Amino acid sequence: MRERPAAVGGEDLKRRLGDQLAPVPDLRVGGLRRFHYICSMPDVSVVADLDLDRIDLGDLDLWDDGPPHEVFSRLRREAPVHWSPLAEYPHEGGFWSLTRAEDLHRVSLDWQTFSSFVGGIMVLDDFGIPLEGQQQMMISMDPPRHDRIKALFQRGFTPKRIAEHEERIRAIVNRVLDRVATRGECDLVTDVAGPVVSRVIGSFIGTPEAEDQRHVEETNLVLGFGDEDLRPTEEAVVEVMRRNWDETMELVAERRANPGMDDLLDVLVHSEIDGEGLSESEIFMGLGLLGAAGNDSTRSVFTSGMLGLLENRDQLALLLADPGLIEGAVEELLRMYPAFAHFRRTATRDVELHGKTIREGDKVLLWYVASNRDESVYEDPQRLDVTRRPDHQAFGAGGRHFCLGAALARLEIKLLVGETLRRFPDLELAGEPARARSLFLNQLKTMPVRFTPEAG
Ligand code: HEM
Repeated sequence: MRERPAAVGGEDLKRRLGDQLAPVPDLRVGGLRRFHYICSMPDVSVVADLDLDRIDLGDLDLWDDGPPHEVFSRLRREAPVHWSPLAEYPHEGGFWSLTRAEDLHRVSLDWQTFSSFVGGIMVLDDFGIPLEGQQQMMISMDPPRHDRIKALFQRGFTPKRIAEHEERIRAIVNRVLDRVATRGECDLVTDVAGPVVSRVIGSFIGTPEAEDQRHVEETNLVLGFGDEDLRPTEEAVVEVMRRNWDETMELVAERRANPGMDDLLDVLVHSEIDGEGLSESEIFMGLGLLGAAGNDSTRSVFTSGMLGLLENRDQLALLLADPGLIEGAVEELLRMYPAFAHFRRTATRDVELHGKTIREGDKVLLWYVASNRDESVYEDPQRLDVTRRPDHQAFGAGGRHFCLGAALARLEIKLLVGETLRRFPDLELAGEPARARSLFLNQLKTMPVRFTPEAG
């Protein structure tokens, strides 16, 4: 189902490829319904002579089978700065897409021209959290305020603190795997990845385990705009924000009264730079950001990565035969299946790029799902290769906003993949996984698997 290159084409494509093509349901491109065909030959597909100007990357139908990698290849080659009207949300205006690794890098470094603050970092201005609220999160700030806040949060994410968590995380992973081990089947997203990553980030921040499942659902709700399972109602977002504000303020008051608790909240409440600490709203939105980033991202890469391995049994076999490959494999899974398809910037002035004029105020999307498969950087970029040990842009393309949780995420993915394969080496798919319907979340909602049960 996923990571199958989505070939988009018309009748001439059908004529040219004849029997190689298997028809699949039609697909909307640039607001038009067209037929599209997927080549039945492995790893070969063709995007027909589509008019690139008419492709709307904001059309969710284009994403049904995962990121439209064939379209991205053409954009990298022929239209490295591309405009999409975002017709699905007419009141939002369109966006520019950048897809080449080098361009993402340049733009990420140039925060003066490409701001995270001016319009936030989501494709939608209005995704349920007002811009002023978003701007209390470091991810939606520019320097110098960004750097001050990040430095405070970094005190909670030192390599030493992360390394100390290794055995704790391994224990969490195994405790969750214990729950499903004798069943011989489970859903890898909801039974394994969700409970593990929510407990890891919960214990790191200092929230009680009883709240974990609720935090998973809230993260889905806030980030899952566009998907009716993840965000069934719009009103719920406001309700969640209101309730969490009250709860966070209680926790903050508790930490102020009892300093010295060994968790991130304690660090955040008591840290200062030049005599200045974090405001209540900075703590609240900052924790929200960590909770959301922590709950969503690692879960996505682990489950998409496991699916990738199950679909590429030769790569799975390599990893099973040599667990020493795991650290390189984690990087390759991050490259192939970055948790977030893109983040946004907003142009602060008119700027020329590859012959196109990006106007002040325009939205610019940095597509990590595309830059991580840039042919000028990677040989055979669409192929999963656990021996590759790549550099990639899954954690950002350089610059100030490089992911704060990268070390924690790497450790979690390593332990999740490593322990799952150690205990369930014959894991296989037991049904069709379901993808989130989203331009932003590159993730699975469900992934049924089976394996030989462990003795009870
Ligand atoms: C596989 C897992 C993860 C991926 C793929 C990922 C990806 C990213 C990316 C691409 C950015 C850059 C955003 C931008 O340029 O605008 C980012 C920033 C950030 N991430 Fe992650 N992330 C992951 C895990 C985590 C975890 C586990 C945490 C926290 C515990 C976290 C916290 C953050 C924070 C706070 C920022 C903002 C940093 C800043 O603005 O300076 N991330 N992440």
